[in-house]
Amino acid sequence: MNKVTVFGSYVMDLTTLSPHIPVVGETVFSGPFKMGPGGKGFNQAVAARKAGSDVKFMTKIGKDLFAPFVKDAFDKFGITKDYLLESDTAGTGVALIIVDENNGNNAIAVAPEACNELTVEDVIRHRDIFTSSDVFLTQFEANLDATYEAIKLARDSGARVLLNPAPVKEFDHSILKYVDIIMPNEIEASLMTGIPLDGMESIEAIASELKKSVDTVLITLGGKGVYCPSVNGGLVPACKVKTIDTTGAGDAFAGVFAAYLSRGESLERAIDYARAGAAISTTRFGTSPSMPEREEIEALVNEITGGDEK
Ligand code: RIB
Ligand code: NA
Repeated sequence: MNKVTVFGSYVMDLTTLSPHIPVVGETVFSGPFKMGPGGKGFNQAVAARKAGSDVKFMTKIGKDLFAPFVKDAFDKFGITKDYLLESDTAGTGVALIIVDENNGNNAIAVAPEACNELTVEDVIRHRDIFTSSDVFLTQFEANLDATYEAIKLARDSGARVLLNPAPVKEFDHSILKYVDIIMPNEIEASLMTGIPLDGMESIEAIASELKKSVDTVLITLGGKGVYCPSVNGGLVPACKVKTIDTTGAGDAFAGVFAAYLSRGESLERAIDYARAGAAISTTRFGTSPSMPEREEIEALVNEITGGDEK
């Protein structure tokens, strides 16, 4: 099996469906409520695992009441706990998520807690998983110095390095020289480049700007699809499905994309599998638990591409 290593966050997702997203000072009655495994890192690791890759995932959690739940989640999704580190000082990260029941849109406050305590030393101690993978995938939800170290180790060993720069935050742009493929959403891409969003032309300008630092740029546009100047035509539409919760769709995209790239699929084909995977994840409530199985992904890809091999 091809190897994908993911580095990043694990957080507990505390999610409720709400009639609307409350404004400042407002309290809404909402429900149901669900606690589930999440965090961009874990969601992406689960997506790659379910899409059929051999996945190693490093994160850090607390020694708290969430820890047994987290360990069960790793077991349930077939992710080894060998790189699940525990902090003595910080608790497990938590995300408070409100999903609008009318359209699946969300508002999130994430407290990464122990994920911020991942260290450069942690990464070096487990360097094997960064130097032995085909594809390395990370985000910006865990400690950045540790993230940079993982990126460099992976790149120096010849892995293909994929960065999902989310959530958006200040970072050291010099790290981009170690990145092969960058996959921001449109908001992250706009903030990274300082180019305001204003229709497709602005997306093209943002992509050209990012391309000055990273070889392959892929901007996810939610329900509008994905823009990748390296594929024919640039804009690849999203798959049409009945959306109930968009939370984690970007993670589904990133994880599925990593899995298919690691199997040697072309950029264009990997995007097809990833957009199908992202669409399927939005038809279910929750984040990691909504990641699609390989069979489901391939069935939808056959449907949208008419089964033709590109
Ligand atoms: O991308 C979605 C994830 O981001 C959620 O699982 C939540 O944990 C947030 O951090
Ligand atoms: Na979902």
